[in-house]
Amino acid sequence: MKLLVTGGAGFIGSCFIRHVLAKHKDYEIINLDKLTYAGNLENLNDIKDDKRYSFIKGDILDYDLVYSITKNVDCVVNFAAESHVDRSINSPDIFIETNVKGTLNLLECSYKNKIQRFLQVSTDEVYGSVDDGGYFYETTPINPNSPYSASKASADMLTRAYFKTYNMPTLITRCSNNYGPYQYPEKLIPFFINRLLNGKKVPLYGDGKNVRDWLYVYDHTEAIDVVLNKGREGEVYNIGGHNEKTNFEITKLILDMTGKDETQIEYVKDRLGHDRRYAISNDKIKNELGWEPKVKFEDGIKLTVEWYLSNRDWINSTLNKKGAQ
Ligand SMILES: NC(=O)c1ccc[n+]([C@@H]2O[C@H](COP(=O)([O-])OP(=O)(O)OC[C@H]3O[C@@H](n4cnc5c(N)ncnc54)[C@H](O)[C@@H]3O)[C@@H](O)[C@H]2O)c1
Repeated sequence: MKLLVTGGAGFIGSCFIRHVLAKHKDYEIINLDKLTYAGNLENLNDIKDDKRYSFIKGDILDYDLVYSITKNVDCVVNFAAESHVDRSINSPDIFIETNVKGTLNLLECSYKNKIQRFLQVSTDEVYGSVDDGGYFYETTPINPNSPYSASKASADMLTRAYFKTYNMPTLITRCSNNYGPYQYPEKLIPFFINRLLNGKKVPLYGDGKNVRDWLYVYDHTEAIDVVLNKGREGEVYNIGGHNEKTNFEITKLILDMTGKDETQIEYVKDRLGHDRRYAISNDKIKNELGWEPKVKFEDGIKLTVEWYLSNRDWINSTLNKKGAQ
């Protein structure tokens, strides 16, 4: 099996590549990544010499390049994206370019080259906010509220359209907030740890009571592998941790684990259009494909905080890359 993984130098894509190479000895992987500010080949140092792995620096919007690569692979897993909500609020254009037009280009080239399976990695944010205590199911209407989630929802719709119109074998996964090593330090957990390490306060949006469901990144990548191999074509699969936490609770944990207290919190003006609560049901992937998260939050968050505390060089080199802020 030959896989094209796009965005494999990012947080989740690099974890997926590591997982697949370890699990499937007969798989080969081509990693196509533009290496934006968020892509870092250091994330793959441990597997870079594996003969089954190769890297191509390039853009998923490049038709000729994507066409030539998809000619020689069996499946495509698309992680490549602009992924930070705050950046999408300030500069939505690049989110439409990469997340919508880039996905369209991948779909078109994959269709023309008769790819066996195309998996679009999406997010629970496409469902909007669930404020009534319920859960997102795959049947929940999509209702995106940020330019980021709107661009991901558009990519999902295009993926669905290629299945319905051209009978292309597509799959969509929608996952909740991931945490773990190698996450770009603009996202809550590594961002806050880095600020505390540098003697700065942590800026908490609004009242700190926005709720997110948190899943350890290795569980997410295992679920994607299961869906790629066993999922039903044309279907959407939610992936979550059944692990809802307020942003304040996450902040408090980080403060405790870094030996700081609540005086280090600075409450700041809420994010524009900030979704109040995300909560996702795993019933479908659990009942159909037998996948459930394995890593307990208490263990995963401990591993994660410890990893950032002992990998300050990685944080600094990542933040010093071109285009980073
Ligand atoms: N982080 C989360 O909590 C989360 C949750 C659910 C779903 N997702 C989705 O998972 C995917 C990966 O997220 P992540 O957190 O690893 O993101 P990330 O920002 O860490 O990585 C994105 C990667 O895509 C690459 N990339 C960006 N534009 C590209 C382009 N035009 N061509 C080729 N490569 C390009 C970047 O260089 C980077 O390596 C995204 O599609 C995201 O929407 C993320």
